Amino acid sequence: MSFSNIMDSNSYTADGEGDPLIATRKRLLGPAYRLFYDQPVHLVRGQGAHLYDVDGVRYLDAYNNVASVGHCHPHVVAAVSEQMATLNTHTRYLHRGIVEYSERLLATMPDEVDQVMYACTGSEVNDLALRVAEMRTQATGAVITRDACHGNTASATAISPSLGGATSVGANVRVVDPPDTYRVPAGELAARFADDVARAADELIEGGYGVSCMIVDTIFSSDGIYAEAPILDAAVEAVRSRGGVFIADEVQPGFARTGASMWGFDRHGVAPDIVTMGKPMGNGIPIAAMAAKADVLEPFAVGVPYFNTFGGNPVSMAAAAAVLDVIENDGLLANAATVGDALRSGLAAINDPRIGDVRGAGLYVGVEVVRDPETKAPDRQEARRLVNALRERHVLISVCGHDGNVLKIRPPLVFSMADVDWFCTAFTEALAA
Ligand SMILES: Cc1ncc(COP(=O)(O)O)c(C=O)c1O
Repeated sequence: MSFSNIMDSNSYTADGEGDPLIATRKRLLGPAYRLFYDQPVHLVRGQGAHLYDVDGVRYLDAYNNVASVGHCHPHVVAAVSEQMATLNTHTRYLHRGIVEYSERLLATMPDEVDQVMYACTGSEVNDLALRVAEMRTQATGAVITRDACHGNTASATAISPSLGGATSVGANVRVVDPPDTYRVPAGELAARFADDVARAADELIEGGYGVSCMIVDTIFSSDGIYAEAPILDAAVEAVRSRGGVFIADEVQPGFARTGASMWGFDRHGVAPDIVTMGKPMGNGIPIAAMAAKADVLEPFAVGVPYFNTFGGNPVSMAAAAAVLDVIENDGLLANAATVGDALRSGLAAINDPRIGDVRGAGLYVGVEVVRDPETKAPDRQEARRLVNALRERHVLISVCGHDGNVLKIRPPLVFSMADVDWFCTAFTEALAA
């Protein structure tokens, strides 16, 4: 099976000629670090959904889900500054911040998901989730999707085929196709996915690994953004009936992005055994969490004392609490729904045979670029050209999917109707360029 490489699809290696910052960066950071765009962007300031470069040029940020409630949101900045000026320690001292936040966070989840642990990155919490699942199930086999991306620790990389390069999936990992809403009839998606998962799980049992978990990004973002729901129920059942647990990776769809619920799994009507989340959780402050059912967590929790130096510290918790405040107070769930619908409608109204499909949920939008809408043959080159043509028009996006041909449009949740107009105008020009 061939794997894509989402990093390569979005990698550019500017030569640095005429730009000392690029040349020095290359010399000091080495070749593992890549840049976005043929013409790299040098940003110095952000506000809401807008970014400003070193020359003061304004960009439309249609890509960043970390500064999810808007770049430099004043409420988050104030909460972080105040806590930083007061105290920052770790979770081996008592502090109200972590307890009060945990109460709020767990209140957004199904009742049975009732405990939560903290780290700094999505990779770390997925790594932790794998350990929790293995101790609970006494099995090591994992089912993932074909172009999954779950992080960059050793064990997260082993379940992240889309990171490609010199890394590869583990021997204890089986890969299934994502629910491709563009190529598989809607009525067949759930059953096909469940059959594939059941087959993969049986293979893991035959291989002596047993079934520890299925881990799924509930909007299948690196796979190409497949938002059709509900389709996960039967697959989850197939995993549970073989002894495994279901880990919902909410690093991408979580925190109101889909416009339908705080969590991507909610759209599928399933309660996960473990939920992992990160990126948008602190609007730029590194904070990640793993929530779980207490009985799933128990074998790990009683067997392994957990400490993470930075995870869950008072400043991180202040940021995370401020993010929840903004989502609630500024109505960002509803905004993601309304503005996301307008964005998809605007894009769907652009009549161009290169646009094979416009899909997504809320403010997670995918545009599949094809050579021919009849054959649906992916056009990676044209997708890449469009990304760069948009960048020239000061609009920032990237690509995803197995063939690197799906435009990934994932702006901060404060994206406005005016931003949608800006995006659609620039996109029309980029197509014509
Ligand atoms: C679905 C998903 N899970 C986990 C991760 C890893 O998160 P982090 O980069 O914070 O380690 C990513 C990163 O892109 C991701 O997309």
